[in-house]
Amino acid sequence: PAPGWATEADVVVVGSGVAGLTVALRCAAAGARVTVVTKARLDDGSTRWAQGGIAAALGEGDTPEQHLDDTLVAGAGLCDEQAVRTLVTEGPDAVRRLIATGARFDADDVTGEIQLTREGGHHRRRIAHAGGDATGAEISRALVEAVRAAGIETVENALVLDLLKDGSGRAAGVTLHVMGEGQRDGVGAVRADAVVLATGGMGQIFSATTNPAVSTGDGVALALRAGAEVSDLEFVQFHPTVLWLGPEAEGQQPLVSEAVRGEGAHLVDVGGVRFMRGQHELAELAPRDIVAKGIMRRMRERGAEHMYLDARHFGAEMWGRRFPTILAACRAHGIDPVTEPIPVAPAAHYASGGVRTDLRGRTTVPGLYACGEVACTGVHGANRLASNSLLEGLVFAERIAEDITAGAESTGAESAGVESTGTEPAGTGRRERPAERTGPSAPAASGDAPLLASEARYEIQHIMTHGAGVLRSAESLARAADRLDRVQDDAVTQLRRDGKTAEPGVETWEATNLHLVARVLVAAALRREETRGCHWREDRPERDDAAWRRHLLVTLRPDGA
Ligand code: SIN
Repeated sequence: PAPGWATEADVVVVGSGVAGLTVALRCAAAGARVTVVTKARLDDGSTRWAQGGIAAALGEGDTPEQHLDDTLVAGAGLCDEQAVRTLVTEGPDAVRRLIATGARFDADDVTGEIQLTREGGHHRRRIAHAGGDATGAEISRALVEAVRAAGIETVENALVLDLLKDGSGRAAGVTLHVMGEGQRDGVGAVRADAVVLATGGMGQIFSATTNPAVSTGDGVALALRAGAEVSDLEFVQFHPTVLWLGPEAEGQQPLVSEAVRGEGAHLVDVGGVRFMRGQHELAELAPRDIVAKGIMRRMRERGAEHMYLDARHFGAEMWGRRFPTILAACRAHGIDPVTEPIPVAPAAHYASGGVRTDLRGRTTVPGLYACGEVACTGVHGANRLASNSLLEGLVFAERIAEDITAGAESTGAESAGVESTGTEPAGTGRRERPAERTGPSAPAASGDAPLLASEARYEIQHIMTHGAGVLRSAESLARAADRLDRVQDDAVTQLRRDGKTAEPGVETWEATNLHLVARVLVAAALRREETRGCHWREDRPERDDAAWRRHLLVTLRPDGA
């Protein structure tokens, strides 16, 4: 739709989690005119829900090299080592700068040293936390306050629609649908020389997720429509321990942080048996995909709908001090972890893939950057290491701000397509990533794709949960692809019959975005005929390094194919 209003900035940042607000603060500090646009309120994204913390080699005896090793192992052969090296070496100072910005982490009363905990896949204590288990909320508070103090322009309740481009194909701003923000209501535009996507994840593609309602894959959908390259979408991480609220539970579910296991909680089955022992040297603290699989297998063997996390031995004092958020969430649902084990099951948690970027956060569209969960920088590979996501948002946000404010013309990252060859040092952005192109074979979405009715969201979630969830097979994925096609066909039929589809609005655009992202994800998951990281194919149970140590890339052609 044509914009009804327009405004201008040097940089428009879309999203207001750790990634978006850090880019905004650093660009503004360098003198750029920044506008932050965000779908709900400034603190409504995924960041504020992060519990466990932020990983960085801050502890005595720990080193970036050890953090690198753990990240590469979790990533199951698909991490980009240069990207990981950048993350772990720049991470500790980035955390210190976050502290200087105002975030307060839990520290020892006597020494003042930051307290560090453990989570799955980490061989050392290296997770800094705040408010016990409210790390994201504290980071969000500090960044929102800093953005307000810096006088950065913000537009809330603004769903991003599409990328604006200039005549040369370079990003030139975004269109938005804004609600309830006075003069800027309705469809409008922010024109800018640089556009930073920091829109978070896509957990709402599944019925049960730890993600808030706003995580509908809008950034990936926008990037696809803009012709940017998207990578690794098949690697959706399912968090092993999400509070189980019954088989019909839908929408955002309460997380029970890995840090609870890091502090000594046990996973047990209905008979009280610790089933992760013997499955991995780290038992309950194995990388997340291994624990999620261990839980699913045991659930199947026992015909159970969930397992239990037992941390009664923490006692009331430790529960209240160390995990107040989780304690309150459990009690709100009638479960007292001080006296009973917590029912848990895996739920969708994190998109390891996203819009492909180089080490400066550049996407393949000049002037368009991506940062945080929406991006695929290469640090997560096939399975993100716990608590690396806040760190990734922070480190790459600073790199993006540096790139934008250095005044260099953003030419866009080079395509990592199959033709890509050669490697260059970190910082130049061009690296070899063995890759293959895939994607839905029929039109997925384009400027002309029909808008889906808001109810399509629930249908998509149902299809994805049953066809492309923790456990997948060629059959389940093919069925999902087929059913997703039909969702679109129905909208096309309606368009032909009535001359119009759903009314434009946030819910219908969200449903349309979820549908596009779901189709690409299913196509990639179908194509990857192996089990690796958090992609678990029942019909292809082995990891196949000879054939599949490579990435699946997707770009949509202008006609949407
Ligand atoms: C958690 O606290 O378990 C979540 C940490 C993460 O997803 O990185």
